[in-house]
Formats: sequence, structure tokens, C-alpha cells
Amino acid sequence: MKDVVKKYNRTASFYNRRYREIQENKYKKMINFSVKGKMLDIGCGTGLLYDFLKYDSYIGIDLSLEMLKKGKFANKILADCEFLPFKDCIFDFVFSFTVLQNLPSYRMISETYRVLKRGGIFVLTTLKKTYEEDLIETFKIFELIDRRDCDEDIGFVLKKAF
Ligand SMILES: C[S@@+](CC[C@H](N)C(=O)[O-])C[C@H]1O[C@@H](n2cnc3c(N)ncnc32)[C@H](O)[C@@H]1O
Repeated sequence: MKDVVKKYNRTASFYNRRYREIQENKYKKMINFSVKGKMLDIGCGTGLLYDFLKYDSYIGIDLSLEMLKKGKFANKILADCEFLPFKDCIFDFVFSFTVLQNLPSYRMISETYRVLKRGGIFVLTTLKKTYEEDLIETFKIFELIDRRDCDEDIGFVLKKAF
């Protein structure tokens, strides 16, 4: 975990310049609906998703302080997404773009399920090169709405149906 923090703290100064267009293309492919209610961006980094959505109720959580410092949004939380510091059933939308490949387990998936409201939507992408089919097993708690090709990522739209 310390290595991941070090890596992204070092990347923060050039992250937007290098990755904005790449990440925006993923957002365009995955978000073809309007976002309403409370939303959380897991592994938000510098908040490129905030810049793209310009959504006021945006909350971003990340483990790298330097990435968060670059963000232009108000609600920043420095925390490990494997242990989300939120009560159960409070978010309408949770997004996580290109984060899962950094995590030691799939715990973030069940944590997301916990904090989503019933009927809430979870949009998740992860790097194709690290993707393994057993990830799908962890989706059983959700309804799988869609699976999309998302450039260097594979993307999923999931719903907390129950
Ligand atoms: C490739 S960047 C993606 C950033 C952002 N989602 C985007 O679309 O630009 C991965 C981010 O995940 C964060 N991250 C990695 N492990 C994390 C963890 N355990 N908890 C929270 N954030 C984490 C990193 O600090 C980094 O900002």
C-alpha cells in the first residue's frame, strides 16, 4: 500500500497533463446517464471525473494526499477505499475508474455494495492487462447491467438491486 501511495504522490504533478484525455474517453464510454443524488468517486486521484461532470454533490476518496491536493473539488477524503469511512446505504452512484488494479483484494467491491442505496449504480473500470475473470464472481451481489470495452480498461455497470 505504501508503494502505491508513493507512486501516485510522485505522479500527481503531471497526472492531469498525461492522463486527462485518456480518462475522459473512459468517462464518455461509461457514463451515458444523468447523475443525481449523492455520488462517490473511489480512487478519485486529482478529480478528473469531477472536472468532467462538474457535479456539486461530488465526494472523492483517495489514498494519495498529493493527488487529492490537485483536485478542484471541495469534498476530499484521504482514506483507504478497502475500508470506506461511510455509513451503510447512503450513495446513489459510486464510480471507480482505473483503481482496482492497485488494490490487494476485491474488498472495495463489497464495501461499495454496503455504502450504496438500494437501486444505486456502481460504475467500475480496471486495466485490461490485470483483469482476471474471477472478478465477475464478486459481482454476484449486484445485478450486472453492462460490460463495456473501455480502451485500456474493461468497464462494468452494476446495480444494487436488493
Ligand atoms: C490511475 S489513478 C485513477 C484516478 C482517477 N480515478 C481517474 O480517473 O483519473 C488510481 C488512483 O487510485 C488511488 N488508490 C490506489 N489505491 C487506493 C486505495 N487503497 N484507496 C484509495 N485510493 C487508492 C491512487 O492514489 C490513484 O489516485
